[in-house]
Amino acid sequence: MNDGLEDVIAAETVLSDVDGLAGRLIIRGQPLEALAGSRFEDVLALLWDGFFPDLPGDLRGPLAEARATVFKSVRAQLPLLADRPAYDAMRALIATLPDRSDLETALLLAVGPAVILPALIRQQRGLAPIAPDPSLGHCEDMLQMLTGARPAPAAASALDTYLLAVAEHGLNASTFAARVVASTLAGLNSSVLAALGALKGPLHGGALGPVLDMLDAIGNADNATAWIEGELASGRRLMGFGHRIYRVRDPRADALKTALRRLSESGTIDMSRIGYATAIETAALAALQRHKPDRILVTNVDFFSVLLLEALDFPRDTFTAVFSAGRVGGWIAHAREQLANGRLIRPKSRYVGPVPQVAA
Ligand code: ACO
Repeated sequence: MNDGLEDVIAAETVLSDVDGLAGRLIIRGQPLEALAGSRFEDVLALLWDGFFPDLPGDLRGPLAEARATVFKSVRAQLPLLADRPAYDAMRALIATLPDRSDLETALLLAVGPAVILPALIRQQRGLAPIAPDPSLGHCEDMLQMLTGARPAPAAASALDTYLLAVAEHGLNASTFAARVVASTLAGLNSSVLAALGALKGPLHGGALGPVLDMLDAIGNADNATAWIEGELASGRRLMGFGHRIYRVRDPRADALKTALRRLSESGTIDMSRIGYATAIETAALAALQRHKPDRILVTNVDFFSVLLLEALDFPRDTFTAVFSAGRVGGWIAHAREQLANGRLIRPKSRYVGPVPQVAA
């Protein structure tokens, strides 16, 4: 049996190729680096191209309209979920959106996290939700709904970079979950809800908050090696490191480092914070190499993401929900691709339990 289905090909896709040995991510024929500077609207148009017969070339207007519709539809229900963790509350509110497979449903789902999460965060902070503004770009609007102020261009562009970096990544656990559900002909919302469940775990999108906990717990770069060795000796994994596929570098981590440098130039994040994280990264990579000399463990997308999300004023327990605001575009594209080309996904298990005794 192949534990964890490593190297098993379970779908053919035109969406992305994750080349772990070259450290390269190709999205619809283009390396991630070539898409730098793309806005969320462009990334969605690229991912969804060919999967909806009525897809307009420019998604800015339809996405702005969808943000307004979602805000109107969930606003009254926000207080009902005030005592729930933000991720669970967001998932519950997304579940109230339609569950068809058409473009209209896809647009509502694609903006769901971007509209619902800021409102939930504001509610936790004792603040009223802010309605979306159709004159703004998607990421500008998400940040304005969060803080109440027009974001600096560098901040909106950093969020665009983040959502691009996490939008699409082959058959990761959450995307596979989305495709399995789509293969049963359930609607797009059902796929997105399944994917949200998979993303939540700490071996996937749930590693984000714990990366920041680790940076806080280490406290000072001089303590890094001792703290990290202690974790590894106790059998714990270092969050933000390691990947099933990447063996040389995670190109998404590189893209985020560039975005962080730009944020520091605009004064949104202190360069010393980036320097501190880089020192921890160096110590962690050295310790992982000593600990697992036969396995190349790289810095993954989550490590530098947390600095960016922290600088944009998202609380750490909502980082995974922000991740979903990007990955939802990929989930929907995969669900539509599965619907168009795939069969019911139904693998086999090998029975290793007791067998009935046969009377002699
Ligand atoms: N820290 C310490 N040891 C590690 C780490 C790590 N971050 N990652 C892998 N290892 C060890 C494993 O314990 C394992 O050791 P073993 O053979 O003695 O059991 C060995 O390296 C091989 O690891 P695998 O489990 O085969 O790696 P796998 O491909 O299954 O897992 C994963 C990849 C889950 C990302 C893993 O590296 C990990 O747990 N990382 C920490 C969590 C994390 O950062 N998740 C976010 C990933 S990116 C994303 O999903 C958006």
